Amino acid sequence: MANPSLLILAGDGIGPEVMAEVRRVIDWFGANKDLTFDVSEDLVGGAAYDNHGTPLHDDTMAKAQKVDAVLLGAVGGPKYDDLDFSVKPERGLLRLRKEMDLFSNLRPAQCFDALADFSSLKKDIVSGLDIMIVRELTSGVYFGEPRGIHREGNERVGINTQRYTESEIARVARSAFELARKRSNKVCSMEKANVMESGILWRDVVQEIHDAEYPDVELSHMYADNGAMQLVRAPKQFDVIVTDNLFGDVLSDCAAMLTGSLGMLPSASLGLPMANGRPKAMYEPVHGSAPDITGQGKANPIACILSFAMALRYSFDEGAHADLLEGAVERVLADGARTADLMGPDGGTPISTTEMGDAILAALD
Ligand code: NAI
Ligand code: MG
Repeated sequence: MANPSLLILAGDGIGPEVMAEVRRVIDWFGANKDLTFDVSEDLVGGAAYDNHGTPLHDDTMAKAQKVDAVLLGAVGGPKYDDLDFSVKPERGLLRLRKEMDLFSNLRPAQCFDALADFSSLKKDIVSGLDIMIVRELTSGVYFGEPRGIHREGNERVGINTQRYTESEIARVARSAFELARKRSNKVCSMEKANVMESGILWRDVVQEIHDAEYPDVELSHMYADNGAMQLVRAPKQFDVIVTDNLFGDVLSDCAAMLTGSLGMLPSASLGLPMANGRPKAMYEPVHGSAPDITGQGKANPIACILSFAMALRYSFDEGAHADLLEGAVERVLADGARTADLMGPDGGTPISTTEMGDAILAALD
């Protein structure tokens, strides 16, 4: 059988720095676990603009459509701030998500015990936290028509439209139920069915998909504003949360920050199943290109390494390799390894990006 294929798009700023550490982890699996990837690399974002005058070349897009998974670093930076909107680095990322139809965005919020003191919440509220927010990514109010700003009489009016079709809700609901079956078998769906028709449809469709296809999964519904309160009050009551694009944007950022640094947060964006039965997929850290620390060896590579762990889990096996990698990260943190973003108020000496990579490889060994 052919090796699984990976396309690496390291991008801009600290993207290439953190991706270099992921490359070493990928090589480790090849050398030690009989899991060899066909890895290709290409440009995205500002790096692609500098070379091709576009943030994503058509050839790169075509490659992304063919591989088993895409790993992305980060895009953007001050150098590109004045570019026309049509060629901004972020447009490369948006094009990938759109053309690969990555409708299901997975954002875990997991508390590593060694970092529980970092949370803005009390340790016992976050200790052991492990939840997954599934955000619909390709529809909803960010995309609905009509939209725009127009004049009515002597004032301006701004319009965005929340629009969801039944099939758009059904496919992200399925994605959440499938995930739940691999976790604690529990899904909470969040919308505002009390004030939005799209929320009523959301609630109905999620319930219908549940009853017809996933009756074994425990399903509850919650208004999204209450969900925000519950996430801060008692986050451990949740396992998988499924919600729309707008609420998911806000709730996933909120949940993620329960657990600490941006340098720790991975994500996955999944689409429809491919011929191999696995979803079309792109994995990327939540953070951006961090121009303020680029080139200084300060970037924490863990967000990107945990994104690769998600790739192992959702694109390449049933989780044994992902468990191994996540366990190595956990041990390294427990042993006290800290990049600069993980230094508490007590100070200490931070290690570099490469030293964190060294520590994780040593823990894997
Ligand atoms: P950012 O995530 O790049 O940085 C925010 C803060 O977190 C900075 O102080 C940075 O040093 C720190 N930080 C981020 N990642 C870190 C890591 N791995 N280790 C240690 N510290 C880390 O967000 P910002 O500054 O708002 O945006 C910078 C550029 O990145 C902009 O051009 C923005 O458009 C782009 N961006 C790209 C994203 C992507 O590629 N998915 C997401 C967010 C922003
Ligand atoms: Mg956001």
